Amino acid sequence: MTIRELENTAMGMVAPGKGILAIDESFATIGKRFQAIGVDSTEESRRAYRDLLITAPGIGEYVSGMILFDETLRQSSAAGVPFRQALVSAGILPGIKVDKGAKNLAGHPGEQVTEGLDGLRERLGEYHALGARFAKWRAVITIGTDLPSRACIEANAHALARYAALCQEQGIVPIVEPEVLMDWENDIERCYEVTEATLRTVFTALYTQRVALEGLVLKTNMAVPGKQCARQSSPEEVATRTIRCLRQAVPAAVAGIVFLSGGQSAQDATVHLNTMNALAGPGELPWPLSFSYGRALQDPALKTWAGQAANVGAAQRVLLHRSRCNGLAALGRYTNAIENELAA
Ligand code: 13P
Repeated sequence: MTIRELENTAMGMVAPGKGILAIDESFATIGKRFQAIGVDSTEESRRAYRDLLITAPGIGEYVSGMILFDETLRQSSAAGVPFRQALVSAGILPGIKVDKGAKNLAGHPGEQVTEGLDGLRERLGEYHALGARFAKWRAVITIGTDLPSRACIEANAHALARYAALCQEQGIVPIVEPEVLMDWENDIERCYEVTEATLRTVFTALYTQRVALEGLVLKTNMAVPGKQCARQSSPEEVATRTIRCLRQAVPAAVAGIVFLSGGQSAQDATVHLNTMNALAGPGELPWPLSFSYGRALQDPALKTWAGQAANVGAAQRVLLHRSRCNGLAALGRYTNAIENELAA
């Protein structure tokens, strides 16, 4: 595997007007999402739901790749086609979540470090053989009183860099995801500072571990106020602060940047991405800015589905609509009129 091949895959992940759909919820997380719509989480209900997402007609026009959970990479559609094959047929790159979750960081109450490095080389080799062409590892940084600690940022950055180096060795493009959570009462400036410090630390670690930046995709949070902050920000403020933060801390060689939605509403996530791309204008930034949303793409479709086979078509149309809105936002061409087309 040459760096050129990794670079081609990475560029495909952030192709113009396309982004990534994250459907890699762990057993615990999908259980929570299903509970909210009154559906039991079983191997078959998870398969049926992921089938709906993966085989949504036309989704490949706006979605370049999907991040799967281990179980899903081994499952098949109702028609008996392995999901990984269904994705390739739709022109979508199969991806895989490879971290083993965020665990409490010893000596640092309220903070976590993501685990999963032991045996990772062998797991990546198997995932590559199963068709995965990119991977994801999510680190969690919590803002709070006296948080985050330097130790938390450094431990997570080190693990992300070790993971990324192993991915590239195995011919898999790493999505490097340090997520600064938006759950607290901090203002947008605090989120900006913590995000900048985190990204700078992550890129230093990537350099130390000899990771080729052309062959990776950064997945990050936007600079946003915490959900409990009294002063919420306009889309323009989120967009300008986020772009400034990325310019400060992300090397130009990185293939692309995608955002997580992190608890933003589906529409906010679209509007924020669109505002960034509309403000920056084509060719103004060193990297494409696109999406890698989980909740912001899935939630409306999940509610429409509600576990009923009869709702699959309607849920797929809802998913396609959100994907189209975000694909256009990646080009700075999303509008209110487009948002309202589904309802019309
Ligand atoms: P959200 O967009 O729901 O934050 O999820 C994206 C993701 O993959 C987090 O790792």
